[in-house]
Amino acid sequence: MRYFFLGYFILIAMVVSVAGFRGSKSARPPIQIFNDMDDQNRGDSQEASDFFANGQIAQEPIPGTIPMGFHVPTVAASAGGAPDLEGYAIDSGYLSTGKMGEFYGHGMPEELPVDNAFLERGAEKFGIYCAICHGESGNGAGVISKYGLMPTNLITAPVADPAQRPDGKIYDVIVNGQGLMGGYGANLNLTDRWAVVAYVRSLQARGAMPAADVQEAYDAWEASQSEESDAQPANEGDGGE
Ligand code: HEC
Repeated sequence: MRYFFLGYFILIAMVVSVAGFRGSKSARPPIQIFNDMDDQNRGDSQEASDFFANGQIAQEPIPGTIPMGFHVPTVAASAGGAPDLEGYAIDSGYLSTGKMGEFYGHGMPEELPVDNAFLERGAEKFGIYCAICHGESGNGAGVISKYGLMPTNLITAPVADPAQRPDGKIYDVIVNGQGLMGGYGANLNLTDRWAVVAYVRSLQARGAMPAADVQEAYDAWEASQSEESDAQPANEGDGGE
């Protein structure tokens, strides 16, 4: 019995001496029985290195490096230069974020002209990136709805109600996604994103029109196509306030 207590005491002393000092700080390298990949054969960002002449492992980007899809403006916006509408993010302004201060804004950014070409661009991008889920008409019954995912109907409230979903909010959902929907900010540049917003608004306007009016507008459009005249159906977009 005595030996049992002695053995028990030694065991506790050993456990305490090994486990009890976990978390205490020491300048010496830790004893690693299983190292759990704590040490890897790579350089950490703050580490010194004698490989590079400047003695640090993390190197500065090569001068002139720019993010993918970003063009260096020839004239700075502050000096009156035009914004880079083919870029992906310029600044923290409405055009880049859809936000005015802390809130989502409504209306097209003033830099972008809303015309037929703009809506056609939106229609093309919507067909590529959004229709698979939200449907060609935006009613939420895209191909994916046959496989269990139920994307939001874009042509009825709340998305169709600017008070609940201002343009800037739709823009933000396109860029960053929401809930089950991933973001498309990396696929669509600034102009394309807003063009999709405008096209979604035009789908909503079309969805709210009586079927006969849609047919009439379509017939007028078709006639104008064959005449190759400039007469287009009334542009029912949300307009650029
Ligand atoms: C992979 C399928 C998928 C694709 C592609 C997709 N969406 Fe969605 N979208 C969803 C789902 C699912 C939701 C519901 C998200 C949630 O959980 O709130 C949604 C929600 C939305 C909403 C509503 C957000 C709100 O305020 O309630 C908008 C607007 C929207 N999508 C626009 C778009 C646009 C524009 C595109 C094309 C750039 C697009 N989506 C592409 C699946 C998709």
